[in-house]
Amino acid sequence: MLSNHSSDLSAYLSLLNDHPADLKPSLWPQVVFALLLGVIVHYIMLQRCPTGTHDSFAYNTPPRASLIGCLSEASLESPLGFVRSARSLFWRHHPVWLRLFGTDIFVLQGGQNITAMLKDSSLSAIPLAAHLLKNAFRMPSHVINSHYRESEFPENGATPMHTKVRELNRKFLTGPQGAAFADRFRTGLKAYIQTLEQKSLSEGVYWEDFADLFRKDLTAVVLNAMCGDKLLQLSPGFLDDFWEFNDSLIGFLTYTSWISGTRKYAARDRVLLAIERWQTAAARHCNAHTTNSTGADPHWGSSFFRERYDMMQQLEGYDAPAMAVQELAFLYALNSNAVIATFWTALEVFKDADLLDAVRTEVESCRVPGETMEFDTDALLRQPVLQAVYAEVLRLRGHGMFVLKANHDVNIQGWMIPKGSLVLASSTPAHMDSEVWCTDGPQSHPPVDVFWPRRFLQPDSEGTMKFSQKATEGSWAPFGGGVNPCPGRQFAKLQAILTVALLVSRFDCRVSRGADVENEYEELRYWYSRYYW
Ligand code: HEM
Repeated sequence: MLSNHSSDLSAYLSLLNDHPADLKPSLWPQVVFALLLGVIVHYIMLQRCPTGTHDSFAYNTPPRASLIGCLSEASLESPLGFVRSARSLFWRHHPVWLRLFGTDIFVLQGGQNITAMLKDSSLSAIPLAAHLLKNAFRMPSHVINSHYRESEFPENGATPMHTKVRELNRKFLTGPQGAAFADRFRTGLKAYIQTLEQKSLSEGVYWEDFADLFRKDLTAVVLNAMCGDKLLQLSPGFLDDFWEFNDSLIGFLTYTSWISGTRKYAARDRVLLAIERWQTAAARHCNAHTTNSTGADPHWGSSFFRERYDMMQQLEGYDAPAMAVQELAFLYALNSNAVIATFWTALEVFKDADLLDAVRTEVESCRVPGETMEFDTDALLRQPVLQAVYAEVLRLRGHGMFVLKANHDVNIQGWMIPKGSLVLASSTPAHMDSEVWCTDGPQSHPPVDVFWPRRFLQPDSEGTMKFSQKATEGSWAPFGGGVNPCPGRQFAKLQAILTVALLVSRFDCRVSRGADVENEYEELRYWYSRYYW
């Protein structure tokens, strides 16, 4: 089935051995480079000039880069294009120093420098987090002023909100309650696939926009597992508003959302209101009798949100709207990267017949005997081809930009970053370095901007292909690393691989335009990881 909408990627899922139809693409709003640059510029403009001195330097000072020089060589077409073309800024093996609007910015490059940066706990993410929370998520200024202070180490010894939130995130996502959340996700996903099967029995299921399967249906499964089903029951339009907000986030920071009218602001208001409504109802109805042994209950979904709500209630200034903002930021981190990654993992598999066969063989080998939808999940997550596809999706398409502030003079591998400066690093040069990813030369290794999961497969002594990241260690960092790697990375992997396993084992899928999908889907081809909390 071919839709008339020329920019949409549609898909037709039919039960295995049924007759598939055609399809064609839809798109997500474009992440425009000017917007990303705007975020950084906007943030920088709000910063004071650095106050650190260089008196005590016993280290090297990174060489200065000229802004005019950088801009003259850089392409402004897209965020990725900018990073790839600004060679003198992002592609050196040593840091460079740039002065912008009176602020010193040190652009760090080279695997060792970035690894050292991510390990340095005196580089703070708080200023940028505060800026994003306030300007993109609409956190009231009084909360930012009292709970997101510049220093991670306030003089009175109090734990900053950012650190408290981080601790709760980590405790939940890496502990037994996180495992219970993953179980609920598995159960919800299987129920969703069964519903799809019912729908497909006669004619298959058609999506005008294939991404909707992930942005709407998969996100609903994740949210129900995380928050219980009350959030979506109380606000049925939540998913549309959530993704509209998600797609406009950078626009809020650069104020370009104004250009497209009030729709995006209204979507953000409705999302926040929906979360507030859900929190208020959950707080009213949840009690000891509604909570099970894992701490989960039907009103909050997981103990996580209940504990965060109780914690925030104790904090001065955290009224109902502020508590809703805090949770929107988490729901954003939960869904925005992982859902896109799952979408691409499924798309890459379905559009390549050989890859699909290899993945189906792996999935079949992990099926619990006699069960149509039960897999040995640990075995599934260790399958070489499935892992390689997922890793390659993240290498090629998931790019991270880290913006940190030096609270003290910092020594990164012998380079001095003075107190008050900003430190900027991008994972893109490492992800797109042909010396790392095309080691056998372009004859046998396709160029870095081609999707090729074999980059992550190496033969063992018996010639069997194994998933391996040894040769590319330090060059693959979609989840950050060091002191604060993404705490949701295990769940993200489970989500992508289990979703793909269930889809390929139960359905055939015809994606419109086949190989042309890359071009049709230009706007979604690469994305910048978003992890604001
Ligand atoms: C493919 C999917 C994902 C990608 C590419 C991704 C990427 C990232 C990155 C690059 C960071 C910053 C790490 C740093 O500062 O060094 C981050 C942080 C974070 N991510 Fe993810 N993430 C993904 C999925 C998830 C999921 C599924 C969740 C929740 C279950 C999640 C929750 C968070 C949180 C809460 C933080 C902040 C951590 C902190 O401040 O310590 N992420 N993520």
